[in-house]
Amino acid sequence: MKKYISIVIILLSTATIFFPCNKGSNSALKNDTTNSLPIPPVLSPYKKNKNSSQYRIVVKSGLTEFFRDKPVLTYGYNSDVLGPVIRVRRGEVVKIQVKNSLREYTTVHWHGLLVPGNMDGGPHQVIAPDGTWNAEFKIDQPAATAWYHPHGLGTTAIQVYKGLAGMIIIDDDTSENLQIPKDYGRDDIPLIIQDRRFDESGYPVYLTSMRDIMEGMKGDVILVNGKVEPTVSLKRGIYRFRILNGSNARKYTLRFSGDHDFYQIASDGGFLNKPVKMKSLSITPGERAEILVKFINIQDGDYIYLNDGDRSFLKIIIRGDKNDITGIPEKLVNIGRIPKTNIASERFFSLAGMGHHVSINGKQMNMNRIDETVRLNSKEIWEIRSSSGSMGMGMMNSQDVYHNFHIHGVQFQVLSRSNEPVPENERGWKDTIFIENESSARIIMRFFHKGVFMYHCHILEHEDNGM
Ligand code: C2O
Ligand code: CU
Ligand code: CU
Repeated sequence: MKKYISIVIILLSTATIFFPCNKGSNSALKNDTTNSLPIPPVLSPYKKNKNSSQYRIVVKSGLTEFFRDKPVLTYGYNSDVLGPVIRVRRGEVVKIQVKNSLREYTTVHWHGLLVPGNMDGGPHQVIAPDGTWNAEFKIDQPAATAWYHPHGLGTTAIQVYKGLAGMIIIDDDTSENLQIPKDYGRDDIPLIIQDRRFDESGYPVYLTSMRDIMEGMKGDVILVNGKVEPTVSLKRGIYRFRILNGSNARKYTLRFSGDHDFYQIASDGGFLNKPVKMKSLSITPGERAEILVKFINIQDGDYIYLNDGDRSFLKIIIRGDKNDITGIPEKLVNIGRIPKTNIASERFFSLAGMGHHVSINGKQMNMNRIDETVRLNSKEIWEIRSSSGSMGMGMMNSQDVYHNFHIHGVQFQVLSRSNEPVPENERGWKDTIFIENESSARIIMRFFHKGVFMYHCHILEHEDNGM
């Protein structure tokens, strides 16, 4: 209790310095009239041959109208906000030249890609203002939906909040041969879900309350692909949504209106063995999920909503028929379970705290310290436990302060959750896992790449606070 009191005092003083006056009442703000769901373009290589592609990305600032006639400063990759989809194929060598035209340092991390440490784009690969970073790596992993975002020490959260995030799609023979929707932007639709808080003039505000500082920034407006609560018009048929939780701290419980069911077909690192039928999907920051949804027995002109809990943020209008309706496949891939033999090491990670006092195993990030050393090609089991404890403060619900755990440079399998079996939709490849308060998970993985890598909580404010 005593500790919490001192935290409160420190935080109250910071809060008054940084955050003058804000109450997010946006009732006077108008959504853009054509509030249709934007589809991020696919980045074209400037050079391409059989086994390699070369891309250029400029990290820049720009103006975005989240609300009509209210342009605000945002950041984007080759764009005012967010970035293009980088679409790569297993086996190819990808070269990406990243130019930083911001007036601050940044990095570009390829979240979910299995690349050597010096190409990972973590806090060790900073790009100075006006600087350029040449990333080059071979794509050597199954088809998946990944993403890229900044990862500077202490600047990740604010730079993502300003708009820096983009999707990466990896294709392989399997993804190309499966009978599932794969026409990008038509029946294979990216949904980058993020939240923001705006002031009366439509300007995004950041960390305006004690709660934000303790839990991480959770806005009250949901954006999809950079648009405030948009609408998309689809024909009747089966759709694939590639969902990325690109939010700083908000966890979503996704449901369609009318309890419409759907099938999860992929998790962070690629396809699940078979589609998993579900009615709701929980997704925490950094995680991805691909789902298939049947919009078939729906009246022309009817709406379906995608909700977080009971709050709608994407309106889907169904109009007309699409001819090439296919079913939901029985099987997708065949991922074996990693056997629990020849384990080089078992490690334990304790996630704790909130606000500025978050830690892993009681420690906070230090660029000059390596916390764990793993042998190349070895197999390990990690147990991750989250124990923020009861908050001891009436204003905060312990369920609202949560952590998740992300590891760079690997895709892992979940062995158990608090000694219980793992749900069907978590039996594929993962790189980020939600660890509910007072619970734990055991994961198993093999390390294939050399270098210095991060593991951290993907609640971005926690990450920036050293977690
Ligand atoms: Cu999504 Cu360490 O990052
Ligand atoms: Cu990552
Ligand atoms: Cu955390």
